[in-house]
Amino acid sequence: MKDQKVIAIDGPAGAGKSTVAKKVAEKLNYIYIDTGAMYRAVTIKALNQGVALSDVDAIVKLAENTDIKFVYDEKGNQRVIMDGQDVSEAIRTPLVTNNVSEVAAIPGVRHAMVKLQREMAANQGTVMDGRDIASYVLPNADFKFFLTASPEIRAARRQKDLFAQGFEVSLEQLTREIIERDRKDSQREMAPLTRVPEAELIDTSNITADQVVDLIISRVLEGDKP
Ligand code: DC
Repeated sequence: MKDQKVIAIDGPAGAGKSTVAKKVAEKLNYIYIDTGAMYRAVTIKALNQGVALSDVDAIVKLAENTDIKFVYDEKGNQRVIMDGQDVSEAIRTPLVTNNVSEVAAIPGVRHAMVKLQREMAANQGTVMDGRDIASYVLPNADFKFFLTASPEIRAARRQKDLFAQGFEVSLEQLTREIIERDRKDSQREMAPLTRVPEAELIDTSNITADQVVDLIISRVLEGDKP
């Protein structure tokens, strides 16, 4: 097995993917690629420019002409840079969250993002999280995991994140939104949210993010044995 491995982590919103993926990448000194952030960046660009999300051709063109980079600030936190602008916080607002599924369902947008994702993962140890990483973006990933948790627990996590950003939203509303987003992400035609049979299923409802990180790291180290 080559030294620098590729780890794919898929799952629905709120399953804990980004928290876990970030920590795994840190521990292994790999790069972390948050593919959801990329679809969010395209969405915010379209919203800022007043492009109708239903104008598929315009959105695809916009996606093809968007530069997205992940960089680290002086504190070691990863930042999302879109066309030279730091959009790390701006892509997490409810407005973006509620519109991103529509943008992510456009095949031309996915095409442009997947091309960038594959380029970023080439030749370096990578942890990539999303919905279609093991099934479509990186089918040859060395390790594949599928994280999940009940919709209520995922909604509660989202409520906590939103509260920290200054938004107060009821648990009922967030649970409804999460179920709706799961439906859209799973039912779209191109590269829907999928668990490939070989991906290890991890239910994060009743375990901590650190426990999930330890489990993934132990799998990677086991895989290292001759
Ligand atoms: O993980 P997230 O909430 O930041 O993802 C934002 C949206 O992007 C979500 O609705 C699903 C979509 N997405 C996708 O379609 N494919 C990916 N690989 C990652 C995210």
